[in-house]
This record gives sequence, C-alpha cells and structure tokens, in this order.
Amino acid sequence: MIIVYSLGGSLLAEQDSDGLRRYAEELRKLAKEHSVYVVVGGGRYARTYIEKARALGTSETFCDMIGINISKVNAMLLMAALGEDTAAVPEDYLQAAKESAPGKVVVMGGVAPGQTTDAVSALLAELVRADRLIVATNVDGVYTADPKVDSSAEKFDRMTPGKLVEISMMTEMKAGSKSAIDPLAAKIIERSSIPTAIVNGSDIANLRKAIFGDHQGTEIALK
Ligand code: UTP
Repeated sequence: MIIVYSLGGSLLAEQDSDGLRRYAEELRKLAKEHSVYVVVGGGRYARTYIEKARALGTSETFCDMIGINISKVNAMLLMAALGEDTAAVPEDYLQAAKESAPGKVVVMGGVAPGQTTDAVSALLAELVRADRLIVATNVDGVYTADPKVDSSAEKFDRMTPGKLVEISMMTEMKAGSKSAIDPLAAKIIERSSIPTAIVNGSDIANLRKAIFGDHQGTEIALK
C-alpha cells in the first residue's frame, strides 16, 4: 500500500533522541511492507518563532515561511533518526514522489505559505495516489470543538469529507494556528475522496493500526 503520514511537529519536536529513534524504527518497519511518505510539522518551535516574528510586526506570509523552515528542520531531525542524513529534504511534491524507493521513508516538511503540513500531506497523497492518508497529531481525532479548551467537546469516530470541510472551516486561518486539520487539507481530501484517518500519534502503535482502520481516532470516509 501507499501510505502518507502527516506527523505533527507537536509530536516529533517534543521527542528526545530515544523517542525519535522509536518513531524512526517503526517507520522503517512500515517501509518494508509499504511505500511510506512522512510530512513533518513545525510544532511548538514553529509557533514560538511565529509569535516572536508577529510581535515584531512582520506579515503573515513571512510568519508562514518561518513555520515552513522549522518544519523542514524537524524533517531533518527525523531523517537523522532514520539514518538518511545524506539526502536533502524534498522542496516539492514531485521531488518527494521521485525519491520513493523500496524500504525508504521519504520525509518532507512545509512547501508554500497559507497552509499547514496537513495540506502538504493531502496534496502528496493525491499525487502519489495514496491508499491511506494518516494524520497523526497529539489529539485523539476530530472533535466538535477543541477538547483542550472545551471539556464538552465530543469526538467523531467517523465522518464524511464534507463534514470534515465544515468542521475545519471553523478554524482561524493564521500562521501557526491550531486545529485537528486545516481547511485546505480537508478540501483536498474531499475532492479526491482520499481514505483518511486522524489519530493520536503519541502512541506509536497507532501509526500501524491506522493503516487498516483499526484505531480509536476519526475515520474520514464517504460512507
Ligand atoms: P504545521 O501547522 O503544519 O505544524 O506548520 P504542526 O506544528 O504540525 O501542527 P501540529 O501542532 O503539530 O499539529 C506550522 C506552521 O508553518 C506554516 C504555517 O504557518 C503553519 O501554521 N506552514 C507550514 C506553511 O505556511 N506552509 C506549509 O506548507 C507548512
């Protein structure tokens, strides 16, 4: 199968070297059985840098560019853990697709301002005709509201791409803003009906479980 992961920077950037090694090990195992692509997010460091730049009065576009660069640094860290430190982080989708090879984990970060790495992963999944897009974040799935802010928020076990678009549109669109998934990613998932799972990636086992839908997160499917 062809699998594209969106691995939240909020997961990866918080890991020490042992944690990074564990993610790398699991991804390497998965790449023995599947074609594996990983798009890494910016996490806390991206948000910290973006906040500082915004306070200095810079544009949202420039803030996005800072986020993109931090996501690439996180991608480099994962590449280091995978032992792929002689390759460059792909600059675009075609380059990423070209780098796929048996047993290899292709890692990339952000690409263009005005979106998040979820959108990058959705576009990459579309391009490589992925069988599964797995968004691994630090929440358990898609909720009716942000569960870290609203204790009455309820998780969806399953939803249509159209509903995902609706929910994602409720997010503020600013550099570094937080949501389960960004609206552009949701629109891409909708237009190509990409079979998608949104799971808690803090539990590494979910990376594998999500391939066959055996997870406690949110499954995005037409029916
Ligand atoms: P992400 O929001 O994708 O990182 O990128 P994230 O940290 O993975 O999100 P979580 O918290 O772990 O789920 C960080 C910021 O980088 C910019 C945006 O400003 C985004 O909010 N970015 C990233 C872009 O502008 N374009 C991209 O292609 C990627």
